[in-house]
Amino acid sequence: MAEERKTSIHGEWSSRWVYILAATGSAVGLGNIWKFPYITGENGGGAFVMVYLVCIAIIGIPVMMGEVLIGHRTKKSPVNALIDLSKEAGAWKGWVALGWLAMLSGYLILTYYSVVAGWALAYIFKAGSGAFTGASAEEISAVFDEMLAQPATLVIWMSIVIVFTLAIVGQGVQKGLEQAVRYMMPGLLIILILLVGYSMNSGKFMEGVAFLFQPDFSELTARGVLVALGHAFFTLSLASGVMMTYGAYLPEGTSIAKTSIAVAAADTIVALLAGLAIFPIVFANDLSPSEGPGLVFVTLPIAFGQMPFGTFFGTLFFLMLTLAAFTSAISLVEPSVAWLVERVGLPRGRAALFAGIGIWAIALICALSFNVTSEMRLFKKNFFDLMDFGTSNIMLPLGGLLIAIYTAWVMTAESTKSELELGDSHAYTTWQTLMRYVTPLAIIVMFLNALGLIDLTQ
Ligand code: TRP
Repeated sequence: MAEERKTSIHGEWSSRWVYILAATGSAVGLGNIWKFPYITGENGGGAFVMVYLVCIAIIGIPVMMGEVLIGHRTKKSPVNALIDLSKEAGAWKGWVALGWLAMLSGYLILTYYSVVAGWALAYIFKAGSGAFTGASAEEISAVFDEMLAQPATLVIWMSIVIVFTLAIVGQGVQKGLEQAVRYMMPGLLIILILLVGYSMNSGKFMEGVAFLFQPDFSELTARGVLVALGHAFFTLSLASGVMMTYGAYLPEGTSIAKTSIAVAAADTIVALLAGLAIFPIVFANDLSPSEGPGLVFVTLPIAFGQMPFGTFFGTLFFLMLTLAAFTSAISLVEPSVAWLVERVGLPRGRAALFAGIGIWAIALICALSFNVTSEMRLFKKNFFDLMDFGTSNIMLPLGGLLIAIYTAWVMTAESTKSELELGDSHAYTTWQTLMRYVTPLAIIVMFLNALGLIDLTQ
């Protein structure tokens, strides 16, 4: 298989830069703009950031390389990639389950992700109308609660997100995904830089810098280390079939190692810049940095509402959040659409429509779980939380573990070596060792902790 070099039936990225843009677009999302700054604050600031960087380097990047090589070697979507590779390695056919798990994870993440993306979209207009200007904290939190309480509002916004997402994906790799990231990613970056500039001028910038970067190892806990590890995994969009599928469209002769490092670095820089944009503004208005989900949708609007040009920059902030969510959303559904095209032979547009109907139906249940069915609980969670917990804490770690085992133990060293093109170098041996031992062990510890079987919380 190594010799006959083919391209994917879905096409390929026009260049390695577009691939980096697309993969970074997938990685940069709510995780960077909301979650990273907030968990950093909770877990000891700078010390946590250092641990996070180590996790990205020794677990995130190798797993990403493993995923990309699976896609790139076969030029197919996850399910078919696993079928082909297992044949090649003479491995157990059951490994196809890993492809299904990955594809399904992406599909299910998109259901609740599109609800949150809908909030971001709605907030562009709320912020833009000047509704937050001079409003009290109570009024602003009432805006958020009211939105959640209205099923029709949530369903309309999330439907717009889904329709747009599928419309882009339906156009194909070069005309759809590629065009979208070509405009959205530079847009996102420009807004982010403007916001950091604004926060330098109008916020308590040095306080924000200290909050993010001053390492205080006495505040770092075992739990903090696990949070860093889990987040490294989530923020790089691993184990959801995305990197496999995007890897399938990677042009020949592109270094998987170098591009993975570039994507991880870009993702990290965006997360750090987002922290620098948000915290100085929060501090300048004497607000708390650890408000959880409310940080972005309540605390930040309160801050913008008090500040000069707050309407303008507040609107820009939610536009940025929406762009970040869109470039992730399109990547989440691409594996399923590619699979429908490969397996059922549907034209892309129709495949997108089919995938979209299912996503919409599940997203509907997610949206309704904030209001109509908010009393219905399973394991003390509503449907939205259940989707989030099930994917982030169970399906993704399990997928990551299997990817590490598959690429480092099941696939032959010849085939991984020929994909990674690292020769017999130290780099290859390091990758293999990390994937064979370090990654599985780290994921198992994280997994057991998430399930509450062992307690490293102290
Ligand atoms: N990386 C995204 C973020 O930081 C979230 C995410 C997790 C994701 N898994 C994904 C996005 C898979 C796209 C595909 O917000």
